[in-house]
Amino acid sequence: MTTLLITGGAGFIGSNLVRMVASAGQYRLIILDALTYAGNLENLSGVIDGTNVVFIHGSINDGDLLKRVFSDYSIDAVLHLAAESHVDRSIASAAPFIETNVTGTLCLLEAARAASVGRFVHVSTDEVYGTLGPDDAPFTEETPLQPNSPYSASKAASDLLVRAFVHTYGMDCVTTRCSNNYGPYQFPEKLIPLMTLNALEGKSLPVYGDGRQVRDWLHVEDHCRGIMLALEHGRSGEVYNFGGYGERFNIDIVHRIIELTGADTSLIAHVTDRPGHDRRYAIDPRKATSELGWQPVHSVEEGLAATIDWYRNHSAWCESVRSGAYLEYYAKHYGTSL
Ligand code: NAD
Ligand code: DAU
Repeated sequence: MTTLLITGGAGFIGSNLVRMVASAGQYRLIILDALTYAGNLENLSGVIDGTNVVFIHGSINDGDLLKRVFSDYSIDAVLHLAAESHVDRSIASAAPFIETNVTGTLCLLEAARAASVGRFVHVSTDEVYGTLGPDDAPFTEETPLQPNSPYSASKAASDLLVRAFVHTYGMDCVTTRCSNNYGPYQFPEKLIPLMTLNALEGKSLPVYGDGRQVRDWLHVEDHCRGIMLALEHGRSGEVYNFGGYGERFNIDIVHRIIELTGADTSLIAHVTDRPGHDRRYAIDPRKATSELGWQPVHSVEEGLAATIDWYRNHSAWCESVRSGAYLEYYAKHYGTSL
């Protein structure tokens, strides 16, 4: 059976990807995750079996560990999702983003190359393209990189390292660039889970600036299908954009969450805008459709309603994340503290 190394598999997208791939049973999965604040083993409860789905606690910055993982588990391909992913945190402190997203990606590329891994899928973001005006055409794979936040700059740097490893060493790499994801298991620092949990708890809903920024929302399951199609059918050296044809103003998303949770609109609080806030993202995913046969299947309306139901029906997960109890999960189940 083909063995995949999934980095960042305890995070939001990584854990959805692990669940999806494990349930299909076609691949053996080795998950490597450093379990930062964003990594939550509860996202993977019931999935890790130590045989077909193995969890390893460790960092992509640890070259010796990577060498052992590639050799001990005979890794055939890499799905690289590990990252510092939150823009606001990168504005508060950029250095961890360079360490993980740039140096960590370099370390992983070097280890994968030394192990002659078959394929390396690098999961990146539409934020590397910068920001759009209201009438601009959506980002294509040819749009110049113009990252505006320390987060997106670090992701753009990692994309360029991947490109260089293809060009210089002939490594087999594919890069994916996706728009804003939403769905189960997303850490409640991001817009949709934060607003949902605050609305359910009757807390303030902090909308940055006028709330007229636009994001192109894609359900995480659609993104995960895209990553697997890139692994199986992508052409080496190519970039594939994934987006949900789901452009919405932030304020409209917040109002819809209020309707779906039955909260009161008086909870909305317009707060100071994010510095350097990108005004609009929109993706043209036609290359992924024509070359990979990829299409999003979830509409924002249906996907958002299902997501809010998920948070409502998983109060134990929400409480654990809100209280920080999830950070104790590793010690409880593996017998040693992190
Ligand atoms: P996340 O923050 O939820 O998860 C990141 C995971 O990486 C966590 O489990 C964390 O513990 C792990 N990690 C961090 N540093 C590590 C290290 N040094 N070694 C090993 N593991 C480490 O992020 P996410 O939202 O699931 O995003 C996953 C990937 O997808 C990221 O590369 C992100 O840039 C990209 N992406 C995210 C979105 C989105 O909307 N969330 C959209 C497009 C692309
Ligand atoms: O576009 C893909 C990117 O989407 C990913 O690469 C990032 O990892 C992911 O975090 C996300 O970045 P954003 O900055 O767009 O996501 P966030 O959920 O932080 O914010 C979405 C929008 O909502 C953005 O315009 C800022 C706004 N916002 C966010 C928060 C947390 C608010 O108005 N209030 C908030 O409290």
